[in-house]
Amino acid sequence: MSLLQVQNLNIDFSTTQGVVNVLRDVSFHLNEGEALGLVGESGSGKSVTSLAVFDLLASNAQVRSGQILFRGRNIFGLSEVEKVKIRGSEISMIFQDPMTSLNPCFNVEYQVGEVLRMHQGLEGSSLRDRVIELLAKVGIPDPQSRLKTYPHELSGGMSQRVMIAMAIACSPKILIADEPTTALDVTIQKQILSLLQKLRKETGMSLILVSHDLGVIAQNTDRLLVMYAGEIVEEGRSSDVIQRPLHPYTEGLLKCLPGAYKLEGRQFRLPTIPGIVPNLAERPQGCQLSPRCPYKFQACVNGAIVLGAVGDARHVRCIKEDLHGPA
Ligand SMILES: Nc1ncnc2c1ncn2[C@@H]1O[C@H](COP(=O)(O)OP(=O)(O)O)[C@@H](O)[C@H]1O
Ligand SMILES: [Mg+2]
Repeated sequence: MSLLQVQNLNIDFSTTQGVVNVLRDVSFHLNEGEALGLVGESGSGKSVTSLAVFDLLASNAQVRSGQILFRGRNIFGLSEVEKVKIRGSEISMIFQDPMTSLNPCFNVEYQVGEVLRMHQGLEGSSLRDRVIELLAKVGIPDPQSRLKTYPHELSGGMSQRVMIAMAIACSPKILIADEPTTALDVTIQKQILSLLQKLRKETGMSLILVSHDLGVIAQNTDRLLVMYAGEIVEEGRSSDVIQRPLHPYTEGLLKCLPGAYKLEGRQFRLPTIPGIVPNLAERPQGCQLSPRCPYKFQACVNGAIVLGAVGDARHVRCIKEDLHGPA
């Protein structure tokens, strides 16, 4: 059995434009120890999906249908007490901007210690020792001297390390990292990503890594899901998807990677996918990508397009004829 199973999840938001269906029939699973990537442009529904797994959706959200099974139990059916127990100790999350996620009023020792006090009842010197151990584990040099440091005294990379220390404090089974490196510069980004990999290997936890950057996702995950307009449009082993993207949207994301356009030392202008993500309050008919898709034909807009199996562990929401042909 998978550690996590998201089944036919539909989420609506009440907005000034009325009720907007943001997530559409999202289904996926996460295996023990696996690194799963979630990739798509801004607004594609990655954060809503992550927050749903953590059951921390905004108050104007409504789960219209579907369920999320953690170890076989639907998290939407749990009591608040049970949810609080799971959050932080079984499923943990880190966010894009560590600066705003840390509380500016408390020092590092207090904030990392808070999680351990709450979930494990640690106190005094055993609490302090564990905090120091965690800070060392996430690569903070001379952790003892950092205990009394306040968030504003930390660099972006160090703040993210503190956030990761808090997230892994209770040895969660699943760590969800939503754009964990987007606010950091490239060198620090690489260090944080390799830290996440190291921790995953050491602890055996599963990772859901969320990014708008297909390069980051491909290099750091075993399997990935491509999201567009609140739907999963492609799923497959990360190496397979990179070698042979099947959905036109994935193909577009791949073309936008900088590596593809650095030829003989000359920089080319980075292409972007023409058009914009549809306004979810006024979704197009049929395939959601159709207004932007270079392969569009009549059948694409006639009706809904389902996520169909294509070969081993591969799914795609597209009816282009060559999808079922030889690789
Ligand atoms: N609280 C909310 N109320 C209304 N719409 C929301 C809310 N949160 C997210 N959305 C909408 O849901 C869509 C997906 O958002 P999000 O998951 O944050 O995208 P991503 O993380 O992929 O950039 C966007 O259109 C966004 O405007
Ligand atoms: Mg997001």
